[in-house]
Amino acid sequence: MSTEITLVRGDITRQTADAIVNAANSSLLGGGGVDGAIHRRGGPRVLAECRALRASRYGKGLPTGQAVATTAGELDARWVIHTVGPVYQGPGSDPSPLASCYRESLRVADGLGARTVAFPAVSTGVYRWPLEDAARIAVRAVRDAGAAVEEARFVLFDDRAYAAFAAQIP
Ligand code: APR
Repeated sequence: MSTEITLVRGDITRQTADAIVNAANSSLLGGGGVDGAIHRRGGPRVLAECRALRASRYGKGLPTGQAVATTAGELDARWVIHTVGPVYQGPGSDPSPLASCYRESLRVADGLGARTVAFPAVSTGVYRWPLEDAARIAVRAVRDAGAAVEEARFVLFDDRAYAAFAAQIP
């Protein structure tokens, strides 16, 4: 059973899913964009568990391309899976850490038994990765992951992002 890929235009913090993926930074202590929205709507329990992770497994922060789960707090989900995307370094930037964000998030989701996972367009905001390239990397990574997750739902915040991902889905 391969993972079905779906696209939604909207705010990821309003999604209902087993797991909602956060475009975090390595501190795990919050930020703007998706990160800010998830912590705002998820509430203090999300940050409390992030702080606990920093005090234990991730003393130096979550490395780029890796993923870790916490409670989803007040969000309509069971877990938030935090992943740290790469910052775009211009043409020729290595795509593998970005592909790893999706692969590792799905691996964590499988470990939790999550069946539906909502993803933002990781690295395409503050981290400046070009949307079309990020969409190609993301869709390919989900397809190649061979995860047990039934639905990988890309939640796109604006029409441009939606179009970039739709172009990757035949
Ligand atoms: N729902 C869905 N998508 C959103 C939302 C939302 N509520 N808010 C923003 N986005 C989109 C942005 O439009 C962009 O396309 O998510 C994509 C990722 O943008 P960022 O949130 O800026 O994430 P990223 O580019 O990975 O940069 C991560 O930004 O917020 C900080 O703490 C975060 O340092 C980290 C960095």
